[in-house]
This record gives sequence, structure tokens and C-alpha cells, in this order.
Amino acid sequence: MSVAALVLAAGRGERLGLPMPKAFVPLVGRPLLLHALAAMASVPAIVRVVPVIARADLGRWERLAPELAGIPKLAEPVFGGAERQDSVRAGLATLGPEIEWVAVHDAARPFVRPAAVARVLEAARASGAAILAAPVSDTIKRVRAGRVAETPPRAECWAAQTPQVFRVELLREALAKASAEGRMATDDAQLVEWLGVAVAVVLGDADNQKLTGPEDLAAAERRLADSEAERGRRP
Ligand code: CTP
Ligand code: MG
Repeated sequence: MSVAALVLAAGRGERLGLPMPKAFVPLVGRPLLLHALAAMASVPAIVRVVPVIARADLGRWERLAPELAGIPKLAEPVFGGAERQDSVRAGLATLGPEIEWVAVHDAARPFVRPAAVARVLEAARASGAAILAAPVSDTIKRVRAGRVAETPPRAECWAAQTPQVFRVELLREALAKASAEGRMATDDAQLVEWLGVAVAVVLGDADNQKLTGPEDLAAAERRLADSEAERGRRP
């Protein structure tokens, strides 16, 4: 199973509202992107880790060189596009024929655990496509024009996470179909679902959340500080 990881970091982080792009925002002193790259690189089955950054952030990337030097399997950065789907396409285009599987991961999810990545890779190997996801605790409403249109059964509602793992050829085909039809997905699995292919769901860790707003970043800092303190108390 020859697997490459695409770590998507070409977004602007508008909802975070900081003067720098989200992937470069520090979490306990290290940019989010570094946390995500290091986590993916630590998975034995992953042979290459491809960062997808915005062209405008090349200088920021180059200034991280000393820290990046410690991450194995790292490829040269690829420039992403205006939409997430464009960034995925740019990353996929750099994978050679020796790469059979791709794990697409958000730089904005710094807490992903290697064990969870290994589980989703295993599930994809059996089915061709698999994602990490976690059951939601709130009841989800489908809302249109300010009114509840539908309440899907809560037990069937899961929040999709990344990494999402696909056979490379399958994701290429899915992206081509979506662009031919002018459709834009909010995650990569949706592209594959549009092909009519079943996507396996693997239970992800509750803390593999995407950091989106300022409150997410503050909570993540607190959590890491607490676990540091906890480690310090241990004999
Ligand atoms: N992403 C990307 N290329 C884009 C848009 C998003 O590579 N054109 C990446 C982001 O860098 C992020 C991940 O996709 O790691 C998930 O997207 P999101 O959380 O929406 O991040 P941003 O787009 O950066 O944030 P915002 O939507 O608040 O601007
Ligand atoms: Mg976005």
C-alpha cells in the first residue's frame, strides 16, 4: 500500500480573523501546519507528505526551514488554488504512478493521531474510500430560509473529519466529474459519493477537530497546556 498524504494549507483562515493565514498560526509555539505535517509523517504506511500552500505564503514556508528539516518524507510544497477542491487537484497532480493511495488532511486539524490514520488507511484498503468521522452530540437540523426543513435522525449524523483516504485514481475521476459538472464539494468524500461509490466511515477521535474560529484556537491552547501540566505532575 503506497500512500501519500496531502496536507492542505492553502486557505486564508478568514474565520480565525488573524493577520496571518491559519496554517501558519502558532499553537504552543509551532504553526498548525507543522503539527499536521509531523503527525502524518509519523504514520509508517505514508511514504510521502505533500504540503499544499498558497503561492503568497512561500516566504512564510521558507522561514520554517529549520523546523521542517526535522520532518521526514516531506516533499516540496505545491501551490494550491482559490477553492479547496483546486488545492486537492494541485496536490494530486504531483503524485507519480507509484502512489496508489492518497490521504487528504486539513492543516487545520493539528491533533490527528497516527493510530486513527492507520485505522482509516486500513478501511480504505478494503473499500477504496474511507473517512474519519465522529458522531454528533447535537441534533442536526436542515434549515432553509430560516425554517427547519428536516431533522435527520441524530444516530445517523456524524461530523466528517480528515484524513480522508482514497485510491488515487478514484479521487482523480471524482474531481474530473465534479469540475465537468461545475459542482463544489465541502469535503473530498462528497466528490467520491457523487460517483456513486460507497465511502467507509471510521470512528475518529473527538479531539480531531478542525480549528476554525478564535475560540477553537484558545481551547486548543488550553488543552495542550493542561496536558503538558499533567505530564509534568507524573512521577
Ligand atoms: N484549504 C486549501 N485551499 C483552499 C481552501 C482551504 O488548502 N483554497 C485548506 C485550509 O488551509 C484548511 C483546510 O483546507 O487547512 C480546511 O479549510 P478551512 O478550515 O475552511 O480553512 P480556511 O479556508 O483557511 O479558513 P476560512 O474558511 O475561515 O477562510
Ligand atoms: Mg475555508
